[in-house]
Parts: sequence; C-alpha cells; structure tokens
Amino acid sequence: MEQALYHPEHGYYSSGRCAIGRKGDYFTNVSVGPLFGQLMTAQFAETWEQLGKIDNFIIVEQGAHDGQFARDVLESAKSRTPEFFEALDYRIIEPFPILRERQSQTLEPFRNKIEWRDSLEPFTGVHFSNELLDAMPVRLISGNTEKLVGLQGERFVFVEHSSANSAFNQAALDWAHSIAANLRRGYVIAIDYGHWGDEFQRDIQVRAQHRQLDSPFDQIGHADITMHVDWTSIIRRAEADGLRLAGFADQHHFLTGVISTWPDLLQTRSSNSTALSRRVQTADADRKTKRALQTLLHPEMLGRAFQAIALAKNVDSGAPQLAGFKFAREPRCALGLKKPNQ
Ligand SMILES: C[S@@+](CC[C@H](N)C(=O)[O-])C[C@H]1O[C@@H](n2cnc3c(N)ncnc32)[C@H](O)[C@@H]1O
Repeated sequence: MEQALYHPEHGYYSSGRCAIGRKGDYFTNVSVGPLFGQLMTAQFAETWEQLGKIDNFIIVEQGAHDGQFARDVLESAKSRTPEFFEALDYRIIEPFPILRERQSQTLEPFRNKIEWRDSLEPFTGVHFSNELLDAMPVRLISGNTEKLVGLQGERFVFVEHSSANSAFNQAALDWAHSIAANLRRGYVIAIDYGHWGDEFQRDIQVRAQHRQLDSPFDQIGHADITMHVDWTSIIRRAEADGLRLAGFADQHHFLTGVISTWPDLLQTRSSNSTALSRRVQTADADRKTKRALQTLLHPEMLGRAFQAIALAKNVDSGAPQLAGFKFAREPRCALGLKKPNQ
C-alpha cells in the first residue's frame, strides 16, 4: 500500500495522478464544492475565539491535495470573518513536490498567507485533515497471520505469514503521536470514514474512476487504496500522548451543529451589480448550495459514512463545546470507551 500510493515516481498520490471529483476516481467533501470549506471556516474561527483571538493562529492542513480546501477557507474567512483572516496563517504539510506546485497555483491569491512544510512542526491553532487517515498504509493482520505481497511469475499475489507483533495501523498511530508532540495549544479536527469498538472490519478498498476494483494489484499506481479508520486505537494513542477527546460525531450531526449555530452561512452573497443579474446569480448559487448541502448531510450520501473527531490540548476543559458537537453524544460513551453511567 505504501509503495502503490507513495512511491516517489509511481505512487498514486506522489506522482500527482490522483484525481478527485466528477472526472476523477472518487468524491470527497472538498470536491462537493466550497460549502464544506465555508462551514469548516466558521468552526475554525470558533477555535480561534476559544484561544483568546490570538495573533499568529495557524491552521495546519495535512492531505491538502490541490489546495482547493485551503482556498475555500481563506476566501470564506476573508469575506465573512476578516478579523480572523488577519490573525491566521495557513500551513500545508506536503511531502510531495508535484502537489505543492499545484497547491501554490490554486493559492496564488493568498501567497502571503501560506507556508509549506514537509512534516509537522510545533504550532498553536487547529490541525485539520479530511480523508488523510484512510489513505495511510496499513498491514493486513488478522489473528496470528498477516497477508504480505509476493510474486508468482510476473504477477503479484498475497502470501500468508505468521504476523509480527505490531499494530495494523502503525502509520496512523505515529501520526497521532506526532500531532500530540507538535500541538502547543489548540485543536485537532479530523474527518474521515471509520469504525470504532468491535464492529471494525479490516478490509482495504480499491477505487478508480468511481468503481470499486477487486484487487489492489489491479491498476497499481493508478487506483486509490484505503481502509476504514480505526478511531478507537487512534484516540487511545492520542489520549496517552496528552490530547483530550473533545468531540466525536458523524458528519451529519457535526455539520448540522455548525449550521444551526451560524445559519447565515447558507445565505448566498452576490457580487453582481444589477438587481436582475443579482437575483439570477443568487438563485443559481442557492440551488448549488442546496445540492451540496444534501450531499454532505444525507445519511446515504456522505452524512453517515464520515465522522468528525476533535482533540484538544491546553484548552480549558470547561470551555464550551465546539459548535459541531452540540448535537453529539458524550464522545467517550459514543465510542464505547466509557459506559454512560461512569
Ligand atoms: C484521499 S486524499 C484527500 C485529499 C483532500 N483532503 C480531500 O478531501 O479532497 C488523501 C491525501 O492525503 C495525502 N497524504 C497522505 N499521507 C500524507 C502525509 N503524511 N502528509 C501529508 N499528506 C499526506 C495524500 O497525498 C492525498 O493528497
């Protein structure tokens, strides 16, 4: 999985071949349109308020693809929350030069606000990722056996071996450890599709051009390979390393919480000058917003499959709950880490 996705020359992501959206291999929240970035900006602004509206607040994004989410956030912050926009810098963690190049083109209008790093460095602010963790390499360990990759003639095949005593999702656990070490004060908000508790099925999915492929050996370097995120082990590691679980909700409840706190976010703003063209533009934008909202919220689209978690460090534990979690259950109960009456 690591080679297929991240080999410097041939990897699906590192080569720049990954394509997201209607003409690509799959949709994400970001490819649905700017609404997702607009809603997240309101949530980020609330974290900034909780940190006392500090200067030099950093939004760190990992897995930024072509920079579209960063652009949606910066445009929204600039037009709706200018004070927040002034206070923030946007840091993208991007190990792959070809993606950094694309991001810098997308983000040209905001070049004074953006900085790039190869890996995490200390920061105060909010770390955000959308579908980063499901793209981290995993090992196919089940009981005492592990599936490794072997060669049969010219073909790759799975071969079973007795498993080494290690975690199947070590890369994601190392990520949690690294975030905990680098976050000085603030939040981590991660959105991904995952499982928790006992219901976890450790299976990989392979996708290309909006189709599921049967084998990860089909279209190597041209197909995405993912596995559902195991929230339980990631949160346990984060807690052991000093982060506090501050929220867990499915995407439907998370975004509904954000929208109900700032209903104006769904109001379209028109830049057009005449009354008629303003009305036409607004009606068109309203239709697009409604469609995007339905895709993001509907339980059979992205609303149920995705979950949002928030982890906090050095934020007053008596601070109000973030808007996205106001309709959520107590997070440790929801995840089965604690019984409701404990
Ligand atoms: C499924 S894509 C999601 C892209 C985007 N966030 C979206 O939602 O449209 C996963 C992204 O994570 C990136 N990625 C994987 N491991 C990474 C790491 N250690 N640091 C930064 N980016 C990483 C990949 O290059 C890819 O761009």
